[in-house]
Amino acid sequence: MTFENLQVGITDGIARVTVNRPKALNALNQATIADLEALMDNVEGDDTIKVVIFTGAGEKAFVAGGDISVMAPLDALQARAAARRSQLLFNRIENSSKISIAAINGYALGGGCELAMACDLRIAADSAKLGQPESNLGILPGWGGTQRLPRLIGKGKAKELMLTGDMVDAEQACRLGLVNQVVPVADLQEAALELAGKIAGKPQVAVRLIKEAVDNGLEMETSRAFAYEADLFGLCFATEDQKEGMTAFLEKRQAVWKNR
Ligand code: CAA
Repeated sequence: MTFENLQVGITDGIARVTVNRPKALNALNQATIADLEALMDNVEGDDTIKVVIFTGAGEKAFVAGGDISVMAPLDALQARAAARRSQLLFNRIENSSKISIAAINGYALGGGCELAMACDLRIAADSAKLGQPESNLGILPGWGGTQRLPRLIGKGKAKELMLTGDMVDAEQACRLGLVNQVVPVADLQEAALELAGKIAGKPQVAVRLIKEAVDNGLEMETSRAFAYEADLFGLCFATEDQKEGMTAFLEKRQAVWKNR
């Protein structure tokens, strides 16, 4: 896979994706959005990839947002179409059969915070700063932020972050539930790889069904969500890995997964 503004390396079922526009703090312009769309086509079609890690190039930023110089001259209909395009991209990441991890190495602002929130998990460097500063620009978070932020951290805190445009540091973000864990900046990539490796080493049908149960179930009325959970639980028993996992436990040995 080769891209204009992404660097991609794949090892042991883990794709490491680096947004690479450090001079603009990795802000997402159209070429980078197109790269991410093509990346998701490739990733989805590659059965060897189990986990995708997103990070930013350089020491300052994960992604400092949508590219403001691209957005500035848009008219209303163009802005609406651009928001819709990025929403669909981030929905693809969220709904992907692959697990995604944001390794937040610096500023994750606006569209950068929205990209991180579309991932399943977020690890932040202790130097990272996150926020939705769109109100400072006379706009609202339009790439999923007004919907994903309250779902992640609750309505009150989400509104506070969006209405003030204030950034939070990594520790504050962790306390809010916006990131899963905080590590020293020097350990970030290794910590993300370790987490990815742990997930890539699990039976993948179960991994995917856990993701589906949470993401789809949360959008359902509660009694339907429980019935859906039971359906997916039953589906696990159609896999070889369920037989292997339970047999291995009873035989007191390590399971050997087939991912089917
Ligand atoms: N778009 C375009 N360029 C950006 C950018 C962005 N989102 N963020 C930073 N840059 C550029 C700067 O213009 C600057 O370029 P030049 O060197 O050519 O002047 C370069 O990156 C370095 O940035 P700064 O000099 O500003 O660095 P700093 O350390 O002084 O400040 C910062 C860092 C606080 C992150 C500051 O750059 C900043 O506030 N950036 C904008 C953050 C923002 O508002 N993001 C939301 C964008 S809107 C959005 O994302 C809408 C949505 O819903 C998708």
